[in-house]
Amino acid sequence: MQRLIPTLRNDQVDEALISVLNSLSICAKEISFRVGQGDLAGVLGSTLDENIQGETQKKLDVLSNQLLKDILLESTHVRAVASEEEDGIVTGAAEGQYLVAFDPLDGSSNIDINSMVGTIFSILPTPADNSGDASMFLQPGRQQVAAGYILYGPRTMLVFTTGRGVKMFTLDQTVGEFLLTDADVQIPLDTEEFAINMSNHRHWRPEMRRYIDDLLLGKDGPRGKNFNMRWIAAMVADVHRVLCRGGLFTYPWDGRSHSKPYKLRLLYEGNPMALLVEQAGGIAHTGQEAILDIQPDDIHQRISVILGSKNEVAACLNYLEGSQTA
Ligand code: F6P
Ligand code: MN
Repeated sequence: MQRLIPTLRNDQVDEALISVLNSLSICAKEISFRVGQGDLAGVLGSTLDENIQGETQKKLDVLSNQLLKDILLESTHVRAVASEEEDGIVTGAAEGQYLVAFDPLDGSSNIDINSMVGTIFSILPTPADNSGDASMFLQPGRQQVAAGYILYGPRTMLVFTTGRGVKMFTLDQTVGEFLLTDADVQIPLDTEEFAINMSNHRHWRPEMRRYIDDLLLGKDGPRGKNFNMRWIAAMVADVHRVLCRGGLFTYPWDGRSHSKPYKLRLLYEGNPMALLVEQAGGIAHTGQEAILDIQPDDIHQRISVILGSKNEVAACLNYLEGSQTA
């Protein structure tokens, strides 16, 4: 089985980008170890204790953020990072070619119940003006040079795209290396599975309610087939399932709070997942436009997300047509 760096070289990925992806793989191993230790973290210690002295008792999402920042900002190729855990960007090498946005530990409420969580990342080119401020990150997702996630589950997996399809690597714990386990991920066009937080039903737009209600009617309704539902409550794990066997995942507009009608973040949740899904033959949309076409106006901007199997997302978009917000 192929290792990470030879696989990237085979694909003729730029050496600087290989180096950044390698830094992320080092973070992945360290976070994976700590997530696996759970409440034991800090008792058995870890290789990076010197870098983050005194911080072993911190919550795992805060710790993951610190590890990613420490390791990525050591790289001469990283100009700046943006993180869900940081209000502003953190700058690094003045001449670094890349910007990295990340959600250090997506689905972190799953930590308490020993369920799946992950790190989501997006790599953008440093723009020509190299302004050094947050505006550098305000690029549409189509500009991403690489994007992916690390899933901490029964197996730790690194899943990413550099624009040449989607590859999945599995961490071989015996040698501490990521090995290629799926070289070309393809999302089936059709599906009988969807993922949505059903408890928000009453808060959705009527068009979204109608779409989901028709799925629930199954064989007896207009869709003429039965659908199953899954909700892991960590986007990283729900999207991983969609990449593995198809499905539709959505976190749509909901009217609970008008100041916060969307849940998921564009830069380090929507965009990286959208690039993976498109590269695997699926659709990633807000209900109004392809996620990758959005011009961001804030590094922590939130959006509506509908992604997955091509024909099913298209069916959902048909229901939403004409609605002002999805
Ligand atoms: O990052 C936000 C997030 O944790 C996603 O990973 C996940 O899809 C969603 O929130 C879960 O939200 P809810 O609390 O509605 O299940
Ligand atoms: Mn998240």
